[in-house]
Amino acid sequence: MSDLDQVTLGAGDKSVTLPVHTGTLGNPCIDISRLPKETGCFTYDAGFTATASCKSAITYIDGDAGVLLYRGYPIDQLAENSSFLEVAYLLINGELPDAKQFEAFSHDVTHHTMMHEALKSFLNGFRHDAHPMAMLCGSVASLSAFYHDTLDLNDPEQRRMAAVRLIAKIPTIAAAAYRYSIGWPIRYPRNNLDYVSRFLHMMFEVPSEPLELNPVVAKALDLLFILHADHEQNASTSTVRLVGSTGANPYACVSAGIAALWGPAHGGANEAVLKMLEEIGTPDKVESAIARAKDKESGFRLMGFGHRVYKNFDPRARIIREMTHKVLGELGVDDPLLEVAMKLEEAALKDDYFVERKLYPNVDFYSGIIYKALKIPTEMFTVMFAIGRTAGWVAHWLEQQTDPEAKIGRPRQIYTGADTRDYLAIDRR
Ligand code: CMC
Repeated sequence: MSDLDQVTLGAGDKSVTLPVHTGTLGNPCIDISRLPKETGCFTYDAGFTATASCKSAITYIDGDAGVLLYRGYPIDQLAENSSFLEVAYLLINGELPDAKQFEAFSHDVTHHTMMHEALKSFLNGFRHDAHPMAMLCGSVASLSAFYHDTLDLNDPEQRRMAAVRLIAKIPTIAAAAYRYSIGWPIRYPRNNLDYVSRFLHMMFEVPSEPLELNPVVAKALDLLFILHADHEQNASTSTVRLVGSTGANPYACVSAGIAALWGPAHGGANEAVLKMLEEIGTPDKVESAIARAKDKESGFRLMGFGHRVYKNFDPRARIIREMTHKVLGELGVDDPLLEVAMKLEEAALKDDYFVERKLYPNVDFYSGIIYKALKIPTEMFTVMFAIGRTAGWVAHWLEQQTDPEAKIGRPRQIYTGADTRDYLAIDRR
């Protein structure tokens, strides 16, 4: 029985009345924390499909309506009018900055972009063909060894500085990892450039000639960073929070988030989408790819399709789809993979299998085509996602640090192993 304030559950001869929490927006949540104590039962929810792990005021998603809000602002309005750095400020602080606040934040980020010289020897220790996500993950974890004197989690200013350092340094490390993998000398960050142009400069400038930055490229990348900046309790953000719940330092938490993001079911999907489109190759092969994706025996899924929360169009996919046509047009790129992607999308959206399961294109479906047009190498796609998502990771980590209800994350299990048994000496087994 539910009257929205509480729910009464019966468990054998016991019953318990549980409170129901309602946020500003979204579904009511039954608070089951008293359940084990009062009934001896736990709840089972593999993959946390029905479980809220925290209260958060950062991002709201309505998966049925295809809505995404950062601190209440619709994603399409931010994509149209804002910049990545402004969005990062918004996610962290809860409000859009005024001019003075934005200048101070930009100044802080700009003046913490340098990477400690000793970090270079870490990078140099990787094999030349290491994946840049592996290098990013390891290097970000090692930042805690460089700033261990400013890691007092009880000091709000030290926490804020850690967040600023992560937003500032991850693009520097990412570009350095890429340049190492292709044997180019590392470029230092240039403070006279904005956040995205600085990153592009560190990626692409060669010592022998100055880089002419194309504003279309910088604008497109800034927009992609905005779209990737946060997505409430996704796998990588939940990982950051789980590690954060133990009191671990923020660099270790974000490094764990990077590891979680790398998987193809999460941020690794953008790289997987491009590989899939290249494998399909031509529009006439789309039908057989759809058939393979529907065949569970094949082990093949349509990458860039489906989402745990969105059972409607991912609003980010709509923006990216439109942007893909615009960017390719403005850059004069004629990529045959775009035709394959459009045909694939059209075919899937008409197919009963995808319609019944509410599988729509997600944020990763078109992003790879744009990255390719921007000349970002395929193995850097997930790194791009990580740069944008860092804003969300640090915002969630900061929120968690002051949450009076935060506890160490410690799920339970249904034990399916052997019953209690006695040890047997080796000659009796
Ligand atoms: N292609 C074919 N079938 C699919 C796909 C797909 N991409 N996605 C889900 N299904 C089927 C799945 O087999 C299942 O079918 P059935 O009910 O017959 O068993 C049904 O749809 C529900 O799928 P699920 O795996 O239970 O759904 P989930 O919420 O656990 O998984 C997902 C969500 C994103 C991991 C999944 O849709 C997927 O693997 N997509 C491809 C990878 C991808 O694009 N990931 C990026 C996600 S968005 C960006 C991000 O968050 O990083």
